[in-house]
Amino acid sequence: MALIVGGLGTSHVPAIGGAIARGAQGESYWKPFFDGFDPVHRWLDATKPDVAIIFYNDHGLNFFLDKMPTFAIGVANSYCNADEGWGLPVQRPFRGDPKLSWHLTEALLAEEFDLTTCQEMLVDHAVTVPMSLLWPGVGDRSVAIVPIAVNTVQHPLPSPSRCFKLGKAVGRALDTYPESLNVLVVGSGGLSHQLDGARAGFINKPFDLMCLDKLVDDPEAITRFSVLDLVELAGTQGVEILNWLAMRGALSDRVSKLHCNYHVPISNTASAVLLLG
Ligand code: DHB
Ligand code: FE
Repeated sequence: MALIVGGLGTSHVPAIGGAIARGAQGESYWKPFFDGFDPVHRWLDATKPDVAIIFYNDHGLNFFLDKMPTFAIGVANSYCNADEGWGLPVQRPFRGDPKLSWHLTEALLAEEFDLTTCQEMLVDHAVTVPMSLLWPGVGDRSVAIVPIAVNTVQHPLPSPSRCFKLGKAVGRALDTYPESLNVLVVGSGGLSHQLDGARAGFINKPFDLMCLDKLVDDPEAITRFSVLDLVELAGTQGVEILNWLAMRGALSDRVSKLHCNYHVPISNTASAVLLLG
């Protein structure tokens, strides 16, 4: 079976990728943010996952507003990156694990989660930034990825409870995988932020801190919010926490908080990293 070694939520602000490209991690603006990943690196060095399943949202690179699957899974051998408009250096392709992807697809379908299967899938900053944060030095492609895209962009969005259940189904599917594999589950995006409209720049620290707390011991509490509640409380793009809920769903009911760093702001976003094991 595939063993989940941990779950990790992280912001994916494109400016982080710019800071990495410039080598600006030590500058005063960036240091409190990047320092938050040191314990994660030590943990990854010790844990050595083989695969990262990444719940993320595409921002117009692979899917656009004309065709928007609610849930989509990559089943490719590799995943190319391209510049979706932020001017970040284009990264080398990421290695896929099609065998695991198809196992997840079949198991999820059997549980009535009908994901769009993508045999070609471009991945944007919501995949590249977390990968660069977790495994600095973009040359390292020893960890394969299975990208699972959740629509957090074009309403109607899947509910928090549906995303949590999707994660649970992924967790069950890993239990029946015939090979032994160490899996890290990643939730990409958030926390509170709003990029446009009258509330552009909106951040809600009390709500974020409540979510970081509940994600450990009582994730169902967050599933009781509606999508529109999340828009109001976390901002129009803060709904990216749906990816974190899917990540949390895949883990055991009882987990420990191994590490957390919350830092406001990075660009327009309340940034956070949360490691659960
Ligand atoms: C920002 C945050 C995001 O989640 C994103 O996808 C793009 C930009 C930002 O804060 O700049
Ligand atoms: Fe985003």
